Amino acid sequence: LNYNVKRDRRFILEILFNGLRRLEYRGYDSAGISIDSSSSSDPNGQLSLSPLVFRQEGNIDSLVKSVYKDVASIKLNLEELFCVHAGIAHTRWATHGEPSPKNSHPQTSGAGNEFLVVHNGVITNYEVLKETLTRHGFNFESDTDTEVIPKLAKYVFDKATEEGDQSVTFSLVVLEVMRHLEGAYALIFKSHHYPNELIACKRGSPLLLGVKELSEDMHSGAPFLDLKFISENRHPKELFLSSDASAIVEHTKKVLVIEDGEVVHLKDGGVSILKFENEKGICGNALSRPSSVQRALSFLEMEVEQINKGKYEHYMQKEIHEQPESLTTTMRGRLRRGGSTKAKTVLLGGLKDHIKSIRRSRRIVFIGCGTSYNAALAARPIIEELSGVPVTMEIASDLVDRQGPIYREDTAVFVSQSGETADTLLALEYALENGALCVGITNTVGSAIARNTHCGIHINAGCEIGVASTKAYTSQIVVMAMLALAIGDDAISSQARREAIIDGLFDLPNKVREVLKLDQEMEELAKLLIAEQSLLVFGRGYNFATALEGALKVKEVSLMHSEGMLAGEMKHGPLALVDENLPIIVIATRDACFSKQQSVIQQLHARKGRLIVVCSKGDAAAVCPGGSSSCRVIEVPQVEDCLQPVVNIIPLQLLAYHLTVLRGYNVDQPRNLAKSVTTQ
Ligand code: G6P
Repeated sequence: LNYNVKRDRRFILEILFNGLRRLEYRGYDSAGISIDSSSSSDPNGQLSLSPLVFRQEGNIDSLVKSVYKDVASIKLNLEELFCVHAGIAHTRWATHGEPSPKNSHPQTSGAGNEFLVVHNGVITNYEVLKETLTRHGFNFESDTDTEVIPKLAKYVFDKATEEGDQSVTFSLVVLEVMRHLEGAYALIFKSHHYPNELIACKRGSPLLLGVKELSEDMHSGAPFLDLKFISENRHPKELFLSSDASAIVEHTKKVLVIEDGEVVHLKDGGVSILKFENEKGICGNALSRPSSVQRALSFLEMEVEQINKGKYEHYMQKEIHEQPESLTTTMRGRLRRGGSTKAKTVLLGGLKDHIKSIRRSRRIVFIGCGTSYNAALAARPIIEELSGVPVTMEIASDLVDRQGPIYREDTAVFVSQSGETADTLLALEYALENGALCVGITNTVGSAIARNTHCGIHINAGCEIGVASTKAYTSQIVVMAMLALAIGDDAISSQARREAIIDGLFDLPNKVREVLKLDQEMEELAKLLIAEQSLLVFGRGYNFATALEGALKVKEVSLMHSEGMLAGEMKHGPLALVDENLPIIVIATRDACFSKQQSVIQQLHARKGRLIVVCSKGDAAAVCPGGSSSCRVIEVPQVEDCLQPVVNIIPLQLLAYHLTVLRGYNVDQPRNLAKSVTTQ
């Protein structure tokens, strides 16, 4: 939204399209956009009363093509404007209604596009609202939950104006709409009744405001800018609203994290924020007066380069290969070796006031979904060993479904790359209600999990764009190994073990660099497996998680069925699947479980299993029954046992990547998935 600067509409379209491209990893089944039009018969660039809406099934490029095709056919004036312009756009991950133009956003209030809404989240009471609005004469066109929102806005607006309130503001309309919405949402509203204005609000789903000053003399170097100052000064600026920093960072690093219940009003280049406060409104007994909020902006630490592919073809490939660097950043400033005391220690700033309470807790409960859950599973044994505190594991949705027991004496650790996963957030809410000490482990500064936990650790892996998590997984394991070291820091008996792990951590990026050299070998293996229907991965101990995560990587991107299994359970069922055709990966690197894995391999071999064994360097003969011709071997460098999952997962990440490319699927945007699932 530009104030007082000459721009053409192509510029506005391109800003929105680029923003969508940055967000595409969050959802990519359909997309839409709305900008204001001025017809060719309108040489003064006056804004049309009817915003234009374009919606398209498929990815952003399909939308771009269709918009420019329509632009040509309706002769949309792409000439320069000298005024404010408000545009909105959306890329969708379908929850209610299949991907199609009618179900894409912006959703509208009906003919004339009086109110338009883009939505991230799910409105849980939409059926009741739909019934009521239908009784009031509204016709619904889509299958979405979102469509009730613009229709409700129109209902509220019409009611207020019928009752003679011609001055009802856009923000009051939205505050009233919010009062009726249940569920999770981040919303942006646009309306032809309020040209040059946008309203955004949120509850549960993430939302950021970015401010780009277009004037040289503005406080470019100042760390904080007063929001009030932004509203009052008349310098030209561009204002951005997004559910994700990656869409904003190329324009500005000055952002405000919007909080639940807040309503952001952009008007004529200014910003005001109102807080939804009481329960009365336009449709209730009396009109509430929301109070205005003053807050300072903060700086994004993300760099634009982080969200580019650089020399790589795909984000997943880039993120796999940058693990030596991401792990180094994760550990930076947190490990101490030498110094006056010569002690090797770990320093986790975000936990320092809580570490004693964690140590004293009756139980540590790890909670997460998908890859984040697997990372916690990989770290579980070392946390149990060094802390002596029992550790239990919870998949976030399952904990909430069962309303499983969480107590005041528990420490609940929430692991989430995005920090915004709806299931994990609900579990956090539940654990907070039950009085547990809540610790967050996330990759996203300012995310809901980072904000709402009592303390935590940022994994600092850098922005992860590939939908399949890779570098965040290894950084999460390293952070949790450091957590184990910090909790166990007071035990003299385990000092030598802790020091060995710290040495191992220092050396880990080198070992990861070494294991990445398997890239070509894994491509060769992928060529052999390309036509397979199914793949099993067996692991145990520290590497049970590697089996689950390796199989998850293969299935989510290459779309090949694959299952990770606990090797100890092999003979209790999975063995029935074994024949000379089914490929089976066994993780058998050196640790306390090594000899047990050797017997697993023997048993699989005895049943003519088609074996691929991941083993420590030099162990090929030790793991292949009757010599190395009996199985294919992937040798990896050996590290401290609790860090071995970091090394072992990398060949499997590479395998999943190459399988996907060879099978011709989209690596960065696997079918039906989204990077961060902010809906239940
Ligand atoms: C989605 C993603 C997974 C991710 C999971 C948890 O399912 O596709 O890659 O592991 O969410 O996400 P989080 O951001 O909480 O780690």
